[in-house]
Formats: sequence, C-alpha cells, structure tokens
Amino acid sequence: MTEAKLEAWLDEKRVFPPSESFVANANAKPSIYDEAKADPEAWWRKQAERLVWDKKPTSTLEWDLPNAKWFSDGTLNASVNCVDRHVAEGRGDKVAYYWVADADGESRTITYSELQKLVAKTANALVELGVKKGDRVAIYMPMIPEAVIAMLAVVRLGAAHSVVFGGFSADALSSRILDSDCRFVITADGAFRRGAPSPLKSAVDEALQSCPDVKTVLVVRRTGGDVHWVEGRDYWWHDVVDRQSDQHTPEFFPAEHTLFLMYTSGTTAKPKGIFHTTAGYLTQCAATYHYIFDVKPETDVLWTAADIGWITGHSYIVYGPLVLGATQIMYEGLPDSGGRDRWWRIVEQFKATVLYTAPTTIRTLMKWGDELPKSHDLSSLRLLGTVGEPINPEAWMWYRENVGRNNCPIVDTWWQTETGAIMITPLPGITATKPGAAMTPFPGISADVVDNEGNSVGNGEGGYLVITAPWPSMTRGIYGDPARFKSTYWDRFPGMYFAGDGAKRDEDGDLWLLGRIDDVMNISGHRLSTTEVEHALVGHPAVAEAAVVGATDDTTGQAIVAFVTLKLSAEDATKDQSHLVEELRQHVARVISPIAKPRQIILTPDLPKTRSGKIMRRLLRDVAENRSLGDVTTLMDPTVVNMISGLMQNEGTSED
Ligand code: WTA
Repeated sequence: MTEAKLEAWLDEKRVFPPSESFVANANAKPSIYDEAKADPEAWWRKQAERLVWDKKPTSTLEWDLPNAKWFSDGTLNASVNCVDRHVAEGRGDKVAYYWVADADGESRTITYSELQKLVAKTANALVELGVKKGDRVAIYMPMIPEAVIAMLAVVRLGAAHSVVFGGFSADALSSRILDSDCRFVITADGAFRRGAPSPLKSAVDEALQSCPDVKTVLVVRRTGGDVHWVEGRDYWWHDVVDRQSDQHTPEFFPAEHTLFLMYTSGTTAKPKGIFHTTAGYLTQCAATYHYIFDVKPETDVLWTAADIGWITGHSYIVYGPLVLGATQIMYEGLPDSGGRDRWWRIVEQFKATVLYTAPTTIRTLMKWGDELPKSHDLSSLRLLGTVGEPINPEAWMWYRENVGRNNCPIVDTWWQTETGAIMITPLPGITATKPGAAMTPFPGISADVVDNEGNSVGNGEGGYLVITAPWPSMTRGIYGDPARFKSTYWDRFPGMYFAGDGAKRDEDGDLWLLGRIDDVMNISGHRLSTTEVEHALVGHPAVAEAAVVGATDDTTGQAIVAFVTLKLSAEDATKDQSHLVEELRQHVARVISPIAKPRQIILTPDLPKTRSGKIMRRLLRDVAENRSLGDVTTLMDPTVVNMISGLMQNEGTSED
C-alpha cells in the first residue's frame, strides 16, 4: 500500500461497516449489548450454560474486592467440558485439531474421540507417576499435540498446569518451577525450528539442578536427539502413556478450583504467577470465542497462530475452541519454516476460515510482500483477528486488503494474561471497525478510561484503562502473593482494576489502546519487564549498572535498548567493545530467553539520574527513540544525556 493511500484512508477517518453477510448470520446480535447491560450477572449465568456441570451452580458472583468467586457452588471437570462431552453428544468424529508440523508435508489429524482416548491414557499415566489433585505440573514443550493433551490430562486430575514457553531459558524455567513448587515436569527431547532440531530436555536438566523437589519428568520424543537421562526421575512418554487404558473416570471439582498458572512479567524482576480457576475462565473463553470469532463449529476451521506457552494459546487454541467443539489448526513452526509463503499454504490446504495473530507477525508478513498472500487461494477466510499490542493502521489495512481481500471483518482484541479472555473488541456483524481501535467492551464487561484522579475522561481524551466490575475469567490472584495482587491491580484507583495500559476515547466514544504506561515492555507481543532485563545484565561480571527501555520499533512494536556501565576492571580489560556487547546480548538470552535479547546495548560511562539517584528511564527512552530531550534540569549531570545521545548515533543497530 502506498503512503498516500494510507493517508487518504486516515484522513477520511475510515470506518468499515459490518458486512452484510455477517449482519444476517452472525452469532452476535446487537441486542446482546442491551441484555448484558440490563443484568450482567444474568448474562454471564446464561453464558455458563455452555458448560456441562456435574452440579449446576445456583450462585453467580460473590465479590469482596479483590477476590471474586463465580458460580462457586457448581462442580465440573474442565477436560470433560473440552473433550468427553462432545463425544457423548455424538461429535466424536469431528476434528479437534489439524496439527501442522514445522516440516513441510507433515501433519496429524486428531478427532474429538481420539483426543478423549489420548487424554484418558495420559491422565492414567500421570496418576501412576503420582500426580494428584491440587498439585502443580510444569509443562515445557514445543507446539505439538502432546502439549495440549498434557494440559487436559493435568486439569482432568484436578492438578494445575504451569506452561512455560519453550523459548525460555533454564533459569527462567527453574524460577517458575520453584515459585509455584511444581513437583512434576512434562517436556520433550527437543523442538524443530525451520527444520533444525533444538534441544529442550537439556534446559530442564539444567533447571532441575536447583529444583530438588521435582522427582518426575515425563519426556515426549519429538526430535530423536540424544538426551541425558536420570534413571528413576525421567520417563519416556511412549513408555508410560502408550500402555495405559484409554478409559478414565473423571472426578468433579468446585467451580473455583485452580485450573492453571501462567507467569507473566510485571514491573519488577520477579515474574508473577497469575492463576485462573475453572468455571468462570471456561465460561468467558467460550462466550468470547463464540461471539467474537463467530464460531460455527460445524463448518469453521479456526487458526489461532500463537504458542500455547502464552495466554492466547491457552484461551484460544485450547480451552475456548474445545469447549465449543470447534476445529482448530495448531502449527508447530515459524512463519517462514519451509518458505515465506508457509502460512498461506496452510490456510489454503486446510481451508482456514478464521485467522487470529499478533500485529508483529502481520508486520513481518507485510514486509515479505503482497505477492505471497496473493499467489494463494485465501478465499476460505471469513474473519481476521489481532491481539497482543496496539496495531498500527497500516498493518491493519494490509491485513484487511491482502489477507482478508477486503471482505473479512477484523477484530482487534484487547486483553491480558490477567483478564484470562478477551475484554475489549469489535463484534462481527455489529461493530463498524476503525483501523487501530479495539472499539468496545465485550457484553458484560465494564471498562473506562480515567484521569490521574480516577475520574472518567470525556470523548476525545486519553487516560488510564480500568475495568470497573469483576468478570468471570479474571485472575484470582498472584500465586502465593495476595498482597502484591492487591497493590498491583487494585490500589491505584479504588474499586477499579488497573490494567497498566494507556487508552483514548475518541470523539465517537470508541476505545483505542495506546500501550503500557508502566515499566512493562511489549516486544513482538511478548511481555517483558525492564527490570527483568536489567537484572539479567547486572548479573554479568562486567556490568556495573544497567538501564533498559522499550523503544518504538517498526517490526516488533517495541525493541529493547539497554544502557550499560561497566565495572572498572572489566572496562580496562575490554579491548573490543563490540565483542562485549554481543556477549551481553547472548547473556540475556541465556538468562531469560532469546526474545529478551536487547536490540541495542549502549556502553556508557554513566547513566542519567535524578538528584535522588533514580535512573531517568523516560529520558533514556527519548534518547533511544531520537526524540528531543525536553526538561533535563532535575538531572544530576545533564551532560550525561548528551553524551549518551552521541554514543547512540555512533552505534549501529545490531540485528539478528
Ligand atoms: C497489550 C496478551 C493494544 C496490552 C493477550 C496488555 C494490546 C498486554 C492488545 C497484555 C490490543 C494486548 N491492543 N494492546 N488489542 N492486546 N495488548 O498478558 O499492553 O501477554 O496490557 O496478554 O498486551 O499482554 P499479555
């Protein structure tokens, strides 16, 4: 798209009305907004009817800020809701997953009745290995069907999974295992990335050196690579799972039984163990998936192109789609595994009807050119979604024109690990969309934009995004740290959930999300805290002090820029600074994950600080983004900033 064309669109304040085909057949009718507004609790009670219960709840919401309980006297089993009930209701032959491997041509089709047997076998295996109700089980796996099967088997037993993204380092894995006292780990020997095997089990071995309470590791053979083996601790999946009975009688658990933990970055170095419970979470995942993605389980083939190591994978590859009995594509590889048109070949081959992904991926696909999507038949697609970061209008328009061929509605969905499911979004068939705006709270959700004092701002004004009433899939807390839960989310504005995002209400009253207003960065849709990366950097023997900021980046949304001062001895010893910079980048990758590797590291003799000694990150962000520096009078040594600016300009940007 030319820039002139984009500008013309924006000048027109382009609005895309809902397409006729959706108006007629959409799951969402305009009346649902009124219905939910008139009685939100009754609305959510009705949504909870999508679940199968052992004992139906009579209660809806009990709210004692910040503690919510939803449907608390009901009992159910999450894996029965995802799998068994569909088989029992005669949909056993329906495809649950088309799994597509990293390698071209390799795929696997799993029906609901096959999934039921696999989950039952795995549950029996976990029982044999000693997993019990109330345990926590860490899952550190590539995007293979066994990851989903493991999740469902764990929750079937009333244990909670803690899925750790397979790209995280051994250190990150061990700190997550220790924080939630996991006694079991499920992993694979390795993963495939663009055809090449990369080890995973070795990171588990390393992590477990500091986790003496983990007594059992279940290992899927994926790559066939050599693995170190600890007899009595490590078990091959194929040895233990395959020989089990494919029948397993489930137990039922209270609605508020913990379902899973998901670690996410906050504003400190220590990630937060966000936990979710069963019925409210499943209710909102299913309701949002049904209305926002207009799911018709009979005919749709939906593709959430995310990793199950993140909340998007949990809610919209696993729980939402499965509760609805939908067919989901699960893809193991990278967007360019087997060529840059790989995604379009997958859409074409499986006739995907819905595609849900992150703006950063859309920008990457966009960079690879219009020809690739054009040369494939994408006519099966009828709806597109985006999540994870604000989407720039240009990427939105490219997605609409080149992937959606101008006739797929785009749902820009705002939500968080903490919210569990989508909160702010257009609805297909109802909302006239605007490129870059998430538009409207989902029915039953109350959101607002407030000023510093917590007062609602008017149209045309910006402020802080807050949620003003409890919702079913809200996190029930930070594992083991209720005080941090209260202070992080509920103390900033009394009575409201503080999301940490800036937002704007436009002249029509529609919502635009503007990104984080705290020290959380959003790199390619991945949440990382500045402190976490600083912590990793100062852990290197050569580093004295580090300040990290997220700077705007055309592809990744934000990129990490680190300002580092060296210890004197190290500085003296270091002849080749570019070598040291690279070593520091690798060090961060090792300590956290390759996704946390700074784009740029500036070695500087000093950092700009206020007179009270606080590092001025705002100013460093301005420097990193080449903005004018504004007021620097509170700085201890104003010359530091100019010096850093100069260093940045001499420094190239390191790209991988
Ligand atoms: C950001 C991902 C703008 C936001 C599901 C939020 C978004 C953080 C959007 C949560 C969106 C997510 N528009 N920003 N549509 N969706 N975000 O926990 O800053 O990984 O606070 O959950 O991503 O990231 P998380």
